[in-house]
Amino acid sequence: MPNYPDAAALAAVEAELSRRPPLVFAGEIRRLRRQLANVASGQAFLLQGGDCAESFKEFSAGNVRDTFRVLLQMAVVMTFAAAKPVVKVGRIAGQFSKPRSSDTEVIDGIELPSYRGDSINDMAFTPEGRVPDPQRLVRAYDQSASTLNLLRALASGGYADLHNVHQWTLDFLSDSPAGERYQEYADRITEALSFMRACGVTADAAPSLEGVDFYTSHEALHLPFEEAMTRMETQSGRWYGTSAHLIWIGDRTRQPDGAHIEYCRGVENPIGLKCGPTLDPDELIELIDLLNPRNEAGRLVLYARMGAGKVEKGLPPLVRKVVSEGRNVVWSCDPMHGNTIKAGNGYKTRAFDHILSELKSFIEVVRSEGAEPGGVHFEMTGQDVTECVGGAGHLSEADLSSRYHTHCDPRLNADQALEMAFQIADALKPAAAMREAAE
Ligand code: TRP
Ligand code: MN
Repeated sequence: MPNYPDAAALAAVEAELSRRPPLVFAGEIRRLRRQLANVASGQAFLLQGGDCAESFKEFSAGNVRDTFRVLLQMAVVMTFAAAKPVVKVGRIAGQFSKPRSSDTEVIDGIELPSYRGDSINDMAFTPEGRVPDPQRLVRAYDQSASTLNLLRALASGGYADLHNVHQWTLDFLSDSPAGERYQEYADRITEALSFMRACGVTADAAPSLEGVDFYTSHEALHLPFEEAMTRMETQSGRWYGTSAHLIWIGDRTRQPDGAHIEYCRGVENPIGLKCGPTLDPDELIELIDLLNPRNEAGRLVLYARMGAGKVEKGLPPLVRKVVSEGRNVVWSCDPMHGNTIKAGNGYKTRAFDHILSELKSFIEVVRSEGAEPGGVHFEMTGQDVTECVGGAGHLSEADLSSRYHTHCDPRLNADQALEMAFQIADALKPAAAMREAAE
């Protein structure tokens, strides 16, 4: 927790936030839970992605739209190739606070509090900037509200209509290999749509063609904020976290007797749990039972985040235990956080090949243990940044400095993210083909 110098100021902000309208609604949260239950049983796939950390400075309609449109492109590719619905969840509209391994940071012999995300303090390395300021929580709320407003409009106001599948292409993407492959998919989808239209399947008959359900998520790290955003639904008497549809618990804050588990256990939202290499199978079962005592499908998403090369050893015992104990969970892969490296020139980066390798091993391991590889979780952006190395664009370490904008961890750029979607679609295809053969 940040050390706020003025506890009364924090309390005043909490009181103010608790009077603000909820950002998301109980009915939406329940719908996401139903859709995640389909993921748990292998009938749908979960796609989750967005910035490592959102920031006040990079906030613009264009940025939100671009992240959204890359997620749409990825979703449409995966839906088409795997012939399964894709549940779309942004890591957006609330992803503002970051866990830090050290309270302070030293640069050139000067020691200041660590940057903990824009909802807490300033990235600028100055004594004033690094003091936690509770007013930033209000600003984070406001930015989340405007972001959500735009996302809701994009999701249901026509932009996400399947007939626009060609329009989601970003200019700088059109001549990359992933961009070209996308054009081919978009052509086939457009063709399928006109065939269906001729058969009478118009938007009137199938309104789902015209838009998407889009959900938000972030790490439930800053508990004063999350608590202030918690509301009781009057009809049911149940508590909902209304800061986002899905919230997750990080690998560093998942102690069974810790505050984060205690908070999340009391709300009805779908809960994510990051599972790193240090998690023991028995402890995982303990955590599952704390968070999901009724063993309901759609309540819990487990994110394996082992690191490439560590999946084969670290993941099987966890999946095996969960399967043998009959616990209902969604298995998702976070191939980002176990693969952060330091480039020769000092930049924090991640290699496309490591990310892809973790993803492929994840799919293999989860399948061979008799469970469903249900989802992926990416740190990504719709912008043409240079933060992760590799991919078809062959970004090198020397390229990193040209457009390195992240406020925390390196993100896949639009091109790399789309390429990932094709890889996932290919990996999921055999299963789709097998299902069809069996039917
Ligand atoms: N509503 C459907 C879905 O979300 C179909 C759809 C409409 C769609 N627009 C989309 C799918 C954009 C992916 C991307 O699956
Ligand atoms: Mn991160």
